Amino acid sequence: MRLFVAVNLTDAMTAALIDAQNALFDRGVRGNYTAEENLHLTLAFIGEYPDARPVLDALAGVVFSPFDIQLDGMGCFGDLWWAGMRECPQLGALAGSVRRALAAHGIPFDRKRFSPHITLLRKAAGRMPGIRIAEASMTVDAVSLMRSDRGRSGMIYTELGQITAC
Ligand code: 2AM
Repeated sequence: MRLFVAVNLTDAMTAALIDAQNALFDRGVRGNYTAEENLHLTLAFIGEYPDARPVLDALAGVVFSPFDIQLDGMGCFGDLWWAGMRECPQLGALAGSVRRALAAHGIPFDRKRFSPHITLLRKAAGRMPGIRIAEASMTVDAVSLMRSDRGRSGMIYTELGQITAC
């Protein structure tokens, strides 16, 4: 199984991101746009791992209080274009807690520095136009373990379990 840990988004946050994708498309940007149901914020990428149970056990030890995140502009990693977040220490702390819990349970994950982003499209062709992304916000009150499968017409993400804020 290919696994990752993510914050799933509210409908309002998703709607703001779809508006941004539509604005890019209308400005002529072509590429592999992330499907609406796949928009998410990754906290840790585990990759191939045989069993969800130990991962859920590790996540069960992560304690956090609800906090708000807000969209803030766009950026890119090469031809992967993303929506960014306003600076949020609690989000970095949550990603750190998740990663420490995985490490403590011997679960491997991508150690690249946490760089909060929501992928809008991959293989973007052309220059990034200046579009406005609505300053949508949401409360983070849950973290999900997700499985990623390659479907016939794109990736299929399935939630295997979640932990909630206290
Ligand atoms: P991305 O949003 O930058 O593409 C499922 O693949 C999720 O895990 C995606 O959100 C993806 O990030 C993220 N991810 C983080 N590190 C990854 C890696 N090394 N390989 C694949 N996906 C990774």
